[in-house]
Amino acid sequence: MANAYDHVRYPSLVQEGLHPAAISVFACLHDLPFVPASDCRVLEIGCGEGANLMSIAATSPRSKLVGFDLAETAIANGRARAAAAKLANVEFSVMDILKAPDSLGEFDYIIAHGVYAWVPAPVREALMRLIGRALSRQGLALISYNAMPGCRVRQIVRDILLDCLAGTVEIKSRLAAAREWLEFLAANWSASDPLQHAMREEANYLLLRPPEVLFHDEMGDTYEPQFVSDVAAHAKRYGLQYICDAQPARGCEALIPSAERQVLRERTGEDWVQFEQQYDYATLLPYRETLLCKDSGIIDRTMAWTRVRRLHAHGEFIPVDEAESGKFEFRTRGDGRASTSEASIATLLGHIGAAKPQSIPLANEIDGRKLAETVLRMFRTGALSLQSEPFQFTLTPSEYPMASALARIQAARGETAITTLRHTTVNISDTTTRHFVTLLDGTRTRNDLALEMMRFTALPETTIVGKLKDNLNSLAQMALLAA
Ligand SMILES: C[S@@+](CC[C@H](N)C(=O)[O-])C[C@H]1O[C@@H](n2cnc3c(N)ncnc32)[C@H](O)[C@@H]1O
Repeated sequence: MANAYDHVRYPSLVQEGLHPAAISVFACLHDLPFVPASDCRVLEIGCGEGANLMSIAATSPRSKLVGFDLAETAIANGRARAAAAKLANVEFSVMDILKAPDSLGEFDYIIAHGVYAWVPAPVREALMRLIGRALSRQGLALISYNAMPGCRVRQIVRDILLDCLAGTVEIKSRLAAAREWLEFLAANWSASDPLQHAMREEANYLLLRPPEVLFHDEMGDTYEPQFVSDVAAHAKRYGLQYICDAQPARGCEALIPSAERQVLRERTGEDWVQFEQQYDYATLLPYRETLLCKDSGIIDRTMAWTRVRRLHAHGEFIPVDEAESGKFEFRTRGDGRASTSEASIATLLGHIGAAKPQSIPLANEIDGRKLAETVLRMFRTGALSLQSEPFQFTLTPSEYPMASALARIQAARGETAITTLRHTTVNISDTTTRHFVTLLDGTRTRNDLALEMMRFTALPETTIVGKLKDNLNSLAQMALLAA
């Protein structure tokens, strides 16, 4: 076994922004060509167990997906799971970035999440070379990494941990000792000294993360956070061009400039990469998702409201009855509130909210710049999500209801984080609901389901039949039922 990831399992997660339908939003907003998410080729480099890639496979059955990783155990797990879920459009292989052959072919989306800053320089070089070589003409590549100088403090914590744990080799002891040291140091660093305060905050943040993540991310062999301008320059050497950051909070900055960054914009002029770099100096941003395309000249970073009309919006907007007079108010995601005095904005938010969990096409909703900018502002704050295509799932369970095969095998394995057909996860912690999900393979009628659930729960028929419809509807609302 060549790799630390074979010894300590790294949690494999679905990342909402790492789906072609989400990545391509930024291409659309910058008027760049992109391949439709529902029929594309995706490569994930260092995919781990492939949770993200499998979710893309389940939501884009016509797309062809390839993932590789150096860790044999992670790839074996991914393969077993993909086979159990009968995901025929995803292929996993054990491979070293250094040895990726030309025969891998071309891809319309390339994702390297959590790899670039955690591999030695020659592997980083090979990674960028691979992207330069394998990205299709209309392709988009997303590289995520810890950023400099925002992660300098985290590097100090790492230096201390590696020194304190130099003699502790056994994995469990190392994880426990790392926690103890972080707790000890956080308690000792003073809040009144600025550097110690920052270190304390960092240690407390690291303590909140799963120990395996700390083990690999900050205590692994390589931890080299990167400057965004270096990443853009690196990409350029391989014929690639910087588009923007692919996190909603930052990816629209060029299109709808925020007032607090105006001085920075004046200082950096037309040089967008310089703007991004100085933004990182000003904010000490710790994490970036750099979006790249083939270098083909100037990127149009002006706001054209018609581009927003090509997108689809999803979000939670529940009208609040007791809104102030002349105002429309909505409850939004995560207990937030949105209010407006503009009837056209209220109508748009009402439509988005009414469609949830589906998205709505903005083509029929946006008739000018004002609404388009409102959508982008809400996207930037996370109040709504944008995607270039709708996800396919049903809200009306059929006579033979069917949950996604991936969700069924996760439920059968007793996992509580279940992948939805919206490229997210939902938490299903009760065993009865998980068992119910495993039964939804499209071969059982509602009667069959009721009988099976009576056997499983030993509850009377009337109770089961009474709950069946509600349970199906609630799974449909979670985007778990296939269309
Ligand atoms: C921090 S993990 C991220 C895994 C996954 N992308 C995710 O976000 O969950 C880094 C991954 O890169 C893989 N890796 C490291 N060096 C590699 C190399 N030279 N070739 C291929 N994969 C590599 C590791 O095995 C590990 O699975």
